[in-house]
Amino acid sequence: MVQRETWATRTGFILAAVGSAVGLGNIWRFPFVTGEGGGAAFLLVYLLFVALIGFPAILVEFVVGRRTERNPVGALLELGGDAWKYVGAIFIVTGFVILSFYSVVAGWFIRYFLEGFRGSYASHLAGYEDIAAEAGEPTAAIMFGELSTGLDAFFFHTLFMVLTIGVVALGIRRGIELAVKVMVPAIIVLLVGMAVWAFTLPDAGAGYSYYLSPEFGVIVDNWAELLPAAAGQAFFTLSLGMGVMITYASYLGEDRNLTKDGVTIIGFDTGIAFLTGLVVFPVFFSAGITEPGDGGAGAIFISMTDAFATIGGGHLLGLLFFGTVAIAALSSAISLLEVVTAYVIDEKGVERWKAALGMGGIIYLLGVPVTYDLIFLDLLDGFADGVLLILGALLLVILVGWITPKLAVQELEKGIGDLGGLGAAWIWAIRVPVLLVLVVSLYLGVVDYVE
Ligand code: PHE
Ligand code: NA
Repeated sequence: MVQRETWATRTGFILAAVGSAVGLGNIWRFPFVTGEGGGAAFLLVYLLFVALIGFPAILVEFVVGRRTERNPVGALLELGGDAWKYVGAIFIVTGFVILSFYSVVAGWFIRYFLEGFRGSYASHLAGYEDIAAEAGEPTAAIMFGELSTGLDAFFFHTLFMVLTIGVVALGIRRGIELAVKVMVPAIIVLLVGMAVWAFTLPDAGAGYSYYLSPEFGVIVDNWAELLPAAAGQAFFTLSLGMGVMITYASYLGEDRNLTKDGVTIIGFDTGIAFLTGLVVFPVFFSAGITEPGDGGAGAIFISMTDAFATIGGGHLLGLLFFGTVAIAALSSAISLLEVVTAYVIDEKGVERWKAALGMGGIIYLLGVPVTYDLIFLDLLDGFADGVLLILGALLLVILVGWITPKLAVQELEKGIGDLGGLGAAWIWAIRVPVLLVLVVSLYLGVVDYVE
């Protein structure tokens, strides 16, 4: 048997996990689901879910991965027995579905990145003025409409999948660890700079109050939609519920303090999402868009092109911004394809490059309809995070919380020491409250999806 790969450096694991977590979920998805959820009310529920559900759940995936040193299917088979390998199969399917549309969206970022080389965003927007006037819609929205489907979208989806497959085919050490060290600091610096700039906009105040001061009435009235949407976003953004963190922890040779790593990963991810909101909502309100929920999948593109069109040196900033996000998306996409690939390598004995190419090719094809009509984006995205992610997380929590709790606590204590009552507290947290929230979210999510 071939020696299983491990991370090349001590920080390899944490970098790759942050690289997986930080992606389109923070910068593309977070602002528009927050808008759809009514702003601050959504933000509050989302933050609560990240801390109270996301944190215990990320530890669950870590211990399962490090304990078994297997891909999700093999890991669950080893821990739970035969029937559990079907749960692992759910993870694999989820990865297929998410990556298929993720790649299309990432392709849009590459497209917008390239626009930065072709001159100012103001001049690009001017090119859409006629259609916009006719349709009575903002030029930035028209531009997004034109670029998000059709030949452009198809081409950049193709390019992005080729890149993703290439990195995964090269393997863990050479491929995944590199990109992250540059990307995460770059995103933070850019977003902080843009948040400071957004602060100076005329209607920034309205944006902040929409984003930051929750009306509790909104939560009470809309809980049936808020709950599954916030849970879905929390899991999506932390790369939970589909075995990424299991797979990445499976390459851990050493006993790291997993709770510390969990806090670091969640801290970066949540901070970056939060910062994105501080940029997007002031821009929206200052551009006269007072119903940010209507922006949908185009929200970030529409608000950012508007922003880059109005500030000096905007095309350089835009180029930097869209480019960095594209790289962030790549490190997340890599993690998605890695799960699927690791499964085929471990369980079917296929060579790495063949596994990456085969699985990546099928995923690529699944994404092609999205480049044709964004209706498929809603369908795939809604099904993946409203249903599949929650279902996967739920079943995993049952396994670890109720069937193998002792093993789980032992594994968590490696690298930390005796946890005493905290170990039991963690197990009870996932056994009851986490489980309940997941069950309710899944039920509401399914109802919502079927409608
Ligand atoms: N967490 C990634 C993001 O926020 C998306 C992702 C989801 C990656 C699930 C892997 C698994 O963009
Ligand atoms: Na994320």
